[in-house]
Amino acid sequence: MIKLLTTSDKETEEIGLYLGKVLKKGNVVCLSGSLGAGKTVFIKGIASAHNVHDPVTSPTFTLINEYEGDVPIYHFDVYRISHVDEMYDIGFDEYIYGEGIVLIEWADLIKEILPHNVIWVFIDRFNSYDEKTVNNRLISIDFREDSFIEEKFFEMLKSKGKQVLDN
Ligand SMILES: Nc1ncnc2c1ncn2[C@@H]1O[C@H](COP(=O)(O)OP(=O)(O)OP(=O)(O)O)[C@@H](O)[C@H]1O
Ligand SMILES: [Mg+2]
Repeated sequence: MIKLLTTSDKETEEIGLYLGKVLKKGNVVCLSGSLGAGKTVFIKGIASAHNVHDPVTSPTFTLINEYEGDVPIYHFDVYRISHVDEMYDIGFDEYIYGEGIVLIEWADLIKEILPHNVIWVFIDRFNSYDEKTVNNRLISIDFREDSFIEEKFFEMLKSKGKQVLDN
């Protein structure tokens, strides 16, 4: 688990960019965090690492947006899903085992159908009523068994002078 603190949306996007740089096709990143936590901001960073020039916004009327980059980026937002079967209806398996990188906002809502080899990004806000901390976010990234990517990401953060928090 790697934990960091960010104090602006730009910084969260930057951390997303660094994670994006160590991701490859076939990787699945699950994002969890309350409304407005910064999941889409983080995904913007991942997409920019893969030279996506399309605007990155949460899909609202569909469950998925696809972006063209140096690899395809599949951006799911399952907040409005009513049953996990909807994922199979749109061919979730083909995305998961496909040629791109899969990013899923609100992935906790479809936990039962996720492959086990996924990276989890948790974004937590602090007390949003306090002006001093309103833009602070705790980002915790659980790489599960993917220690290779974890190591590369950690090295990347270090080379960029980013401070990680002790566990
Ligand atoms: N440190 C920060 N990191 C990320 N976003 C921040 C930060 N500080 C402030 N913000 C603001 O919080 C909001 C995050 O919005 P974003 O759409 O990324 O959230 P989300 O988690 O995707 O929400 P939703 O569940 O509605 O999709 C933006 O308005 C952004 O400017
Ligand atoms: Mg969002």
